Amino acid sequence: MAVGIFDSGLGGLTVYQAVVERLPEVPFVYYGDNAHAPYGVRDSDDIFRLTCAGVERLWDEGCDLVILACNTASAAALKRMQETWVPADKRVLGVFVPLIEALTERQWGDNSPPREVAVKHVALFATPATVASRAFQRELAFRAIGVDVEAQPCGGVVDAIEQGDEILAEALVRSHVEALKRRMPKPEAAILGCTHYPLMQKTFQEALGPSVRVFSQAGLVAESLADYLGRRPEFAGAGAEAKLLTTGDPRAVSDRATQFLKRRISFEAA
Ligand code: DGL
Repeated sequence: MAVGIFDSGLGGLTVYQAVVERLPEVPFVYYGDNAHAPYGVRDSDDIFRLTCAGVERLWDEGCDLVILACNTASAAALKRMQETWVPADKRVLGVFVPLIEALTERQWGDNSPPREVAVKHVALFATPATVASRAFQRELAFRAIGVDVEAQPCGGVVDAIEQGDEILAEALVRSHVEALKRRMPKPEAAILGCTHYPLMQKTFQEALGPSVRVFSQAGLVAESLADYLGRRPEFAGAGAEAKLLTTGDPRAVSDRATQFLKRRISFEAA
């Protein structure tokens, strides 16, 4: 009953870690497209093509259900995949919806009409491609009214994280938070709309200040996946072996993953 986790690189490991802890009985197969990261500066056709290739690889591992643990792929490719490409016996789910359900205080999978919610001023930090897609605002509008979203494209942060340059990543996060605050001085909530960003959550929280509630996806995606598998157990595929695959150099990727998750992580070639 394996489940696939897809990301452009290392960021999805934040989600991987959370789902492994939440669902220890499920074998997860992770696919990091490190050879083509970052996705955040690519156009949507390119992101669609690369994401489909990764998802097919996960289907080959017996994962009928794949989570795109990548906001950029969820924003730029998922709708097109679901509408034109995913066969009826497979499922590909993104990471936006659980986040928006949490922000708007909904039950998982509650599709009732949009309503007024407590939070009014929301800062969104994401990659340039995610911000350009406006997918977050579109999904939010299905569920909430009267929420003002100010989005900050955080150029460079994913690259710095993928290269293991934490000092550069920190400096970039601080400058992106400052830029956002010039346009929205008092956000009530901040969304880390890229799965790489929880690796910098402390810096985001410090730069935003203690009064801002920072939402990150890992735990929320894990809870909503547990709920989904409870309702749709037929989508846990036939795969039995947990593994981590990368299109990059397995040794270098394993080393950086080990550094991020602070436990030994071993990737193999995809
Ligand atoms: N971690 C991904 C996301 O959530 C991808 C970032 C990238 O490759 O640019 O958006």
